[in-house]
Amino acid sequence: MNILVTGGAGYIGSHTCVALLHAGHAVTVIDNLCNSRAEVLDRVQALGGRTLRFVQGDIRDRDALARAFEDGIDAVIHFAALKAVGESCAQPLRYFDNNIGGTIALMQAMEAAGAQQLVFSSSATVYGQPDRVPVKEDAPLRVTNPYGRTKLVMEQLIGDWCAANPQASAVLLRYFNPVGAHPSGLIGEDPRGEPNNLMPYIVQVASGQRPQLRIFGNDYPTVDGTGVRDYLHVVDLADAHVKALDYANAHTGCETLNLGTGKPCSVLELVHAFEQATGQPIPHEIVARRPGDVAEYWADPARANALLGWTAQRDLTQMCADAWHWWSQGGGLAKNNKEQDS
Ligand code: NAD
Ligand code: UD1
Repeated sequence: MNILVTGGAGYIGSHTCVALLHAGHAVTVIDNLCNSRAEVLDRVQALGGRTLRFVQGDIRDRDALARAFEDGIDAVIHFAALKAVGESCAQPLRYFDNNIGGTIALMQAMEAAGAQQLVFSSSATVYGQPDRVPVKEDAPLRVTNPYGRTKLVMEQLIGDWCAANPQASAVLLRYFNPVGAHPSGLIGEDPRGEPNNLMPYIVQVASGQRPQLRIFGNDYPTVDGTGVRDYLHVVDLADAHVKALDYANAHTGCETLNLGTGKPCSVLELVHAFEQATGQPIPHEIVARRPGDVAEYWADPARANALLGWTAQRDLTQMCADAWHWWSQGGGLAKNNKEQDS
């Protein structure tokens, strides 16, 4: 199929483009590079063994979108979004405009081009503090910040679009906590400035870029008092997108799926797994809870297992080893970011 990948130069998008190229799809990427670099796409093509088409542009720019669709697109995988929770609290309108405005413009362009299949990056953040774990797709939705609200609104808009178009098909993928990197060490997560998320922070402590990890609270009602999440290897996540695309191609309507391993992991367990996988010590201290954090959540991935035939294959050891391999190889692009940020 001819696939348009919005945000394809980003962390999850780049890994998904490699998987799409391997699966034999023709790939067009549209990305405005607001949180990524064009060089990533050279590496994606090297890893995928084939070329892709790149349109540098914003999905809110109708001319750029028209260029992206001009070769004929069968299906869209929509990653392009801003994703920093704290920033979304400070700049909600920017998030509404980029994420929600971008999604509306994208669906209009799809309609104009006759493209009827959409795979969408949602997030477990739409569950807020869940009542019970593991979390199923029918759990109550309780967003707690503007970023989460954009994800929920985008899910609803896509659902309405599908309902109005009997031929349309959408798969809404609620990711739990994507981590790790391509085993080649050529692409990975490339956060700008100080990372918000746990794994990139651990990696930067291991490399000596940060003195120690601050663990946000050890008084949660969890296995060891630290926060519990469902960490998922980004290559497994990328594979799920290829399967979701096949599913969208074979069905109509809108489907929502959790993507996680279904295995809970505390902050301390991840720290120990990283130390064992890499041999790198992770000095850490316990500090106060991070405001807005949830004690624990992990996925019930049974629906994705059943509908897509997808199960996460890679364990914590591989997630840690691959994250470290990417970073210790240079985390290439990330070092450039640091120079630019400072
Ligand atoms: P990322 O920032 O690495 O990738 C997003 C890409 O979209 C970037 O390359 C950025 O330049 C591009 N982009 C943003 N706005 C754009 C616009 N208006 N027009 C064109 N390009 C634009 O983020 P990621 O971690 O790869 O996340 C991808 C998607 O998955 C996002 O929608 C995010 O909300 C969602 N998600 C991510 C996580 C996570 O932990 N990484 C968890 C749940 C959901
Ligand atoms: C964050 C986002 C969420 C997003 C998810 C997946 C927030 C509030 N939420 O959630 O929207 O969907 O990432 O990428 O940002 N931790 C530390 N020290 C650190 C960093 C994190 O102890 O330096 C702890 C946290 O308290 C938490 C766990 O590690 O218990 C995971 O944190 P993080 O990686 O930020 O993910 P989420 O909190 O799940």
